[in-house]
Amino acid sequence: MDCFRIEGGRRLSGRVAVDGSKNAALPLMAAALLSDGPVDFSGIPDLSDTANMLRLLEELGLEVTRPTDGVTRFRTIDPTAVHARYDIVRTMRASICVLGPLLARRGKAVVSMPGGCAFGSRPVDLHLRGLEALGAKVSLEGGDIHCSADRLRGTTIFLGGPFGSTVLGTANIMSAATVAKGTTTIESAACEPEIADLARLLNSMGAKIKGAGGPRLVIEGVDELGPAVHQVMPDRIVAGTYAAAAAVTNGDVVIDDFPYDSLLAAIDRFNEIGVHVERLDPAQDSGRCSVRVTCERKLRPTIITTQPHPGFPTDLQAQFMTLLCLARGNSIITEKIYPERFMHVSELTRMGANLIRQGPTVMVVGGGELVGAPVMASDLRASACLVMAGLAARGETIVNRVYHLDRGYVRMEEALNALGASIERLDERSLADADLASPEA
Ligand code: EPU
Repeated sequence: MDCFRIEGGRRLSGRVAVDGSKNAALPLMAAALLSDGPVDFSGIPDLSDTANMLRLLEELGLEVTRPTDGVTRFRTIDPTAVHARYDIVRTMRASICVLGPLLARRGKAVVSMPGGCAFGSRPVDLHLRGLEALGAKVSLEGGDIHCSADRLRGTTIFLGGPFGSTVLGTANIMSAATVAKGTTTIESAACEPEIADLARLLNSMGAKIKGAGGPRLVIEGVDELGPAVHQVMPDRIVAGTYAAAAAVTNGDVVIDDFPYDSLLAAIDRFNEIGVHVERLDPAQDSGRCSVRVTCERKLRPTIITTQPHPGFPTDLQAQFMTLLCLARGNSIITEKIYPERFMHVSELTRMGANLIRQGPTVMVVGGGELVGAPVMASDLRASACLVMAGLAARGETIVNRVYHLDRGYVRMEEALNALGASIERLDERSLADADLASPEA
């Protein structure tokens, strides 16, 4: 397993570009199951999660080729495969987004039930309720979800749950409804930009979806979907993470392909804290622009509550916690999407952070110094917050288990080193051997 050795205290400066979005790419790729193809994507980020999705789609009868540099093409060669096995699903919960497309196109889907993850139970009841409402028979056998239907039928579905709407649930039901008989209305649909990106792809394949990006989707079913060409939207969480990394080092960084309009809640909090995200050009049609991130010498505390889009994203909560450790005064962070998503709290505390947790809320007593230490990454965004803490800390930080980070950031150490960071990727065992061999050990 790899780890990062980070020498802290270096100010980041220069220019970095944001890659394509992981959370957009995964349901987009799954939607290729809905047509014979070809469906061509550019901008699929080179990550372990997208590699897993490619493997899964190949097992499900899609041929994957790269006709030109940067383009990934999907074409159906075996429409009989319907089983997403536990071996793959357990490595990536997002495998659940093949459920809707498989069922709608092939009349049957068997998808291993995803387990929990480091930050909670993460049920899929809303996905199943939505598919049942479209007329599917759903059962659980041997740990697998079995769904079947001759042809799905349009209806009105309420997709809200105890923590708001569901992103991948909306992706599943919206994708399935594109080829249902009649019209489907989804109320309390997820408004995340990744859903709007998926609707753009599906519409270019021939679907008739209205309202994407809002809480009410109206989908007029069509008989079949065809080929399409699509560029994956830039990753708003990677963009927000790089902006926060610039801020924790008091840096001056230009970020290209920054999805500004998708990040308004985070930009609002950056402003409040004293981090300036200055737009350098008007956004293009794709919503991308370049921004320059700089910050005031003294950062201010703030209050953050995670919410479904357009609220503050849970996927940036951990990174902002690191930033707020450096602000002068007390901040409050409340997690409303995943109340248990605080695995990073104890690791940040090992680095000198003063954090007081009560249930879904953490008070960050800012203004102290972060000090390098060995820490353990527990999930993707927690890993990002520990890398940022390492950048800001005095001395050396070892972040173990960076395979979590490789799920969602394309070679993060290379991107940050190009901005002046000092991060080395090492094998955890070789580092342990070196420690044992050293006279101080
Ligand atoms: N929920 C239910 N029932 C369901 C589905 C969800 O109660 O059937 C609850 C969840 O437990 C959670 C809330 O609803 O409390 C929202 O979950 P959602 O379904 O929206 O999450 P998701 O679609 O499984 C995606 C992202 C996550 C991101 C969340 C929230 C992908 C691949 N994953 O997950 O991204 O945190 O939306 O925005 O798109 C990450 O990238 O680090 C990550 C975890």
